[in-house]
Amino acid sequence: MDQADLIVRPAPGCGAYVEGLDVLNATDAQIDALRDTVFQRGVAFLHGPVLAPEEQIAFARRIAPIVVNRYFPKAERYPEIAKVEKTEAQVTNIGGGWHTDHSYDAAPAMGSVLLAVETPPSGGDTLFADMYAAYDALSDGLKATLATLKAHHASAHVFGEGSAYAHTDRAELSGHKEIPDAIHPVVITHPGSGRKALYVNPAFTTGIVGWTRDESMALLGYLYAHAVKPEFVVRYSWRPGSMAIWDNRCTWHSAMNDYQGHRRLMHRITLDGVPLDA
Ligand code: SIN
Repeated sequence: MDQADLIVRPAPGCGAYVEGLDVLNATDAQIDALRDTVFQRGVAFLHGPVLAPEEQIAFARRIAPIVVNRYFPKAERYPEIAKVEKTEAQVTNIGGGWHTDHSYDAAPAMGSVLLAVETPPSGGDTLFADMYAAYDALSDGLKATLATLKAHHASAHVFGEGSAYAHTDRAELSGHKEIPDAIHPVVITHPGSGRKALYVNPAFTTGIVGWTRDESMALLGYLYAHAVKPEFVVRYSWRPGSMAIWDNRCTWHSAMNDYQGHRRLMHRITLDGVPLDA
C-alpha cells in the first residue's frame, strides 16, 4: 500500500511498518497518510535518527495536539516528553503489562509517540494488540451484549497512594493525589476510522457499570484472554531511532521486562483525544 510516497507494509497481527518518511521534512500529505495508517492499523513503526526532544515534539504536534502525562518523570526542560526509563539497577519496568494509555481520562489520549533513545543489547521489545480485530472476532451474540455496556476506568490503583508501584523500586510513580477515573462504552466507535473497537484493558478497567465485581471480572477475564490471542498481537524490537506511533483507542501495548542489568530509555509523547462514543 503506497500513500503520499510512503511505503506502508501491514505487520502481522497488528500495526504497519512505514518506510520512506523523513520525519523532519515530512509533507502535510505524508503526515495525513501516517495519521490515517495509525487510525486504520493501530500502530505505525518507523526507523530514523534519534530525534532531539524539540524535533520529536514538533513531529508529534503535526499529528495531534500534545497532552502532558501526569505521572511519569519528564525529560529535563521538556515537560511534553515523558521519560520511560529503566536503569541498570532497577528491576521493575514502566508499562510492563497490557494496557492502553490514559483510559482513566474522560477524553482518553488519542495516541502516543514513543522514540527509542537507548536500548539494551537484547530484549526490551514491546507487544501491541489490535482491538479492532479482537472485537471483529467476537460472536454476534456477545457483540450485542457488549453494545449495551459501559465500564469504569481508574488510575488510583496504579498511580495513587499505596498503589501497584508503591512497593516496588518504582515507588516514585505512586502516591499521586490527582487520580482521575472515567466511564466509557465497552465497545467504542473509533472517531478516526468509524470502526468498532473493544475498549477495556487489564490495567485501568475496574468493572462493568451496574455489575458486581465477580460478574465484571468473569466477563473482563474472558475478553482479556481473547484480546491477546497471537493472531491479534505483534512484537516490535527497538533500536535507537526506532519510533512507534500508536492509537490508544484501538490497541493495547505491553513492554517486555527481559533485560535486567541493562538500561533502556524511551521518550514518550502522548497525543490528546476526545470523549468516546459507542
Ligand atoms: C508505555 O507503556 O507507554 C511504554 C511502552 C514501552 O516502553 O515499550
